[in-house]
Amino acid sequence: MKIAIDGPSGSGKSSVSRAVASRLGYAYLDTGAMYRAACWLMLDRGVTDDDEVTALIRSAELEPGTDPDHESIAVNGRDVTTAIREDRVTSAVSKVATNLDVRTLLIAEQRRLIAEHAEPGIVAEGRDITTVVAPDAEVRLLLTAREEARLARRARELHGTADADSLAATRESIVGRDAKDSTVATFETASDGVHTLDSSSLTLEETIQAVMDLVADAHED
Ligand code: DC
Repeated sequence: MKIAIDGPSGSGKSSVSRAVASRLGYAYLDTGAMYRAACWLMLDRGVTDDDEVTALIRSAELEPGTDPDHESIAVNGRDVTTAIREDRVTSAVSKVATNLDVRTLLIAEQRRLIAEHAEPGIVAEGRDITTVVAPDAEVRLLLTAREEARLARRARELHGTADADSLAATRESIVGRDAKDSTVATFETASDGVHTLDSSSLTLEETIQAVMDLVADAHED
């Protein structure tokens, strides 16, 4: 069973995807972590030219872990699980995510990993999983949330509170980055056959349950 989940930053898709994979005993693939790891390598080597970035990533070994209970990713054998969450990576990641040659490389690797774990199953999440990477997934979901809800969630994650200052500080990382990302992957509206779930007024547990219900329906088909 392949489960594809897309959504913008702060929609809760990582927490939901990980929890669903864990409960089902499935593998989990965070494709955003792969773009982040590619960006980390670009920054580490100080490469800026797009073709050189592509060559660097083509020759690199990206090893995303697929255990939903243990987040991990390595580049050329080096563990970058924590490093890819640093601000400098978050700020620069759209440079690799908008490089179409890099996307082609990463998409091929994502398809390979998804096929490898299709039995018993895998939950893959990102921006273009339902449409480009795994349009054949048995469950395809676009997880959305209103901008205020996404901002408040991320502000609490980053600053421990959602007061005015934290919301302002968070706005660029959410709204600005989604604007840059939407130039390559359209994830604001679901394409045909893709379920949409607005999590703005749902708790994490309610959202997980809604996805588990979709999976149960797919198993009945
Ligand atoms: O979900 P995230 O913030 O970890 O994603 C990191 C970046 O990678 C973000 O700028 C969007 C981009 N991305 C993408 O273009 N396609 C994907 N399938 C996943 C992430």
